[in-house]
Amino acid sequence: VRVARHVFACCQIGVERWLKAEVARTRPELRPAFARPGLVTWVSDHEVGADVSLGAVFARVWGASLGRASHADEAVALLGIQRGARLHVWPRDPDAEGAAAEALRVHAELAATGRFDDGAPQDGDLVADVIVAPGEPWVIGMHRHGPGRWPIAGGLPHVEVPATAPSRAYAKIEEAIAWAGLDVHAGEVAVELGSAPGGAALALARRGVMVWGADPGDMDAGVLAYQHPNGARVHHLQVTIGALRWEDLPPRVDWLLLDVHLAPQVALHAIQRFLPRLRPTLRAAVMTLKMNDDRIVTEIPALLERVRRLGFHEVRATHLPSNRQEICVVAR
Ligand SMILES: C[S@@+](CC[C@H](N)C(=O)[O-])C[C@H]1O[C@@H](n2cnc3c(N)ncnc32)[C@H](O)[C@@H]1O
Repeated sequence: VRVARHVFACCQIGVERWLKAEVARTRPELRPAFARPGLVTWVSDHEVGADVSLGAVFARVWGASLGRASHADEAVALLGIQRGARLHVWPRDPDAEGAAAEALRVHAELAATGRFDDGAPQDGDLVADVIVAPGEPWVIGMHRHGPGRWPIAGGLPHVEVPATAPSRAYAKIEEAIAWAGLDVHAGEVAVELGSAPGGAALALARRGVMVWGADPGDMDAGVLAYQHPNGARVHHLQVTIGALRWEDLPPRVDWLLLDVHLAPQVALHAIQRFLPRLRPTLRAAVMTLKMNDDRIVTEIPALLERVRRLGFHEVRATHLPSNRQEICVVAR
């Protein structure tokens, strides 16, 4: 495996400033280098390898940055690999005209070298990262797959959102499930705090999960009418978290979702009282925490520590493709 002196990270276009601020805090020895919308690099005084860690929530993919290439031969030479690495090719700006087609074309060109293994990476596998944009050389990097990392190129899953979904939260929960590898099963039970109009609730009900949503707002009529063949549907408790009573919740809850328009500290405080009751059966909580200003971004480590102190032993956070001024926290 090649060693490098550069580190790259890809993020959603528009949050580069937050990503840089995080890395300035987590890895102060890294100095900002080349950057483009959706891609930030840093230079290190020391060698960095595929195992480089950044500890930055806004980094969707990160690794050692090996250089730029315009042909498969150059890319393979930069990667310096024999066999066995997975190949991830993705567009730096997924919404740019021609970007998706360019990624497909480059993937085909590189796959034809026969140097890469197929299939999703398993923990410990090396991943060759190739970041493309029409008219630009490819940026070549490498990382090692592991917990908290996307198994999908660029952390850009394609979620099919049905026309009946009333909000982008449908895509948010599907992305969270894919990122964290949550094994959500039909027959399980979810409670969502902040459930209206019901995008996430619909996604779970379509997976056969019975959903109880608490929200003072109205749920979409189509979501409330939906019924899965196994009987799963969405129940609406039209109350705020503060007014929700333990007795209103089903006896067994497997998944807890939190997606309220409240400051993160307020939202976390609000769920605290339910956790003793949920703990015996809860598998994970999936929380959307609002990042309404720059200051709250500096508070992410403290927020995650706060989540741990709620009694979760594994807490990970990311910025999902469908997240805007918010992050997704999965706590097990
Ligand atoms: C981003 S939306 C939720 C989207 C929803 N998860 C979906 O899948 O469509 C935020 C929701 O938080 C709700 N909300 C705000 N304060 C709340 C509170 N104290 N308790 C419960 N819900 C609250 C709002 O009514 C709003 O519907």
